[in-house]
Amino acid sequence: MLANEAGKIWMNGSLVEAAEAKVSVLAHTLHYGVGVFEGIRGYSTSKGGVIFRLRDHVKRLILSAKVYKMAIPYSEDEIVDAVVGTQAANDIYPSYIRPIVYRDGPALGVKNLTTKVSLAIAAIPAKKYLGEKSDNGIRAKLSPFRKVRSDSLPAMSKAVGNYLGSYLAGTDAQQDGYEEAVLLDSNGYLAEGSGENIFVVRGGTLYTPGPEGDILLGITRDSVIHIAQDLGFPVVQKTLSVGELLTAEEAFFTGTYAEIAPIREISHYVIGNGKPGPMTRDIQDVFYKTVRGEEPRYAEWLHPVPPLAKPVPRASRR
Ligand SMILES: Cc1ncc(COP(=O)(O)O)c(C=O)c1O
Repeated sequence: MLANEAGKIWMNGSLVEAAEAKVSVLAHTLHYGVGVFEGIRGYSTSKGGVIFRLRDHVKRLILSAKVYKMAIPYSEDEIVDAVVGTQAANDIYPSYIRPIVYRDGPALGVKNLTTKVSLAIAAIPAKKYLGEKSDNGIRAKLSPFRKVRSDSLPAMSKAVGNYLGSYLAGTDAQQDGYEEAVLLDSNGYLAEGSGENIFVVRGGTLYTPGPEGDILLGITRDSVIHIAQDLGFPVVQKTLSVGELLTAEEAFFTGTYAEIAPIREISHYVIGNGKPGPMTRDIQDVFYKTVRGEEPRYAEWLHPVPPLAKPVPRASRR
């Protein structure tokens, strides 16, 4: 994403052109990874633009910031409005919306609780993170890199620095020709993907690691648990071994950017018959109907984006 493709960025209360949204090279976050962010999706429905589970993402952003002692200088409602305003100003669907909370600079020195906490929000065109065909299945590599324990870096905080591990695992998998990495925790149990949660199906039950694991508590994960239970599928949150993963009948990743990506193969072990399984397909079906606004049952997950009174002309965004 080049700056001039990112359209308008909301930065500390104002919408500015992306090229004007600047941060000091001495910003604390750039040096020490102390920052938190969100990944949110905007979708187009027959009733207009919507943002999926916006308030839940904003609540998680605030909790992520709390872990790192960053007081965001905006309320939950103000952040919700800022995200909606950024989406409306850019008017791109589907979109990937990225709020980031960071300590501005210049300020070096790790122990720093006084430097200004800033918020910036971008809304860019969304792609399928795991490839345009990922809805039909991807190949994943069991990563040699383990998740950092949550008593070192709390995984439930979506912190910038946590993504060093995701980068190592994800790029290692990519260089070996896989679409994504599966990470184990330091005890050898299943954790998550580099940017997704993971589910497996065994004997007609859906399993996923629980909140005590070293995982981000994904909002797509939570949506899938609701959808699966409403479909009548038993859902169990528990620690899962490598054996339980490799011999699963079905497996899939969930994430805002990845959406729901069936896993066909993990490190040359074919999952099920190598095709998306029936439970995965049923859950995908309801999820995609939901985000398109075709599933009244979950309509409350869709936050409307009112069109701008005066739309920003496309030309002025370039
Ligand atoms: C490490 C990690 N786990 C899980 C997820 C899935 O979370 P969500 O469904 O809220 O996007 C993400 C993506 O945000 C992630 O980066």
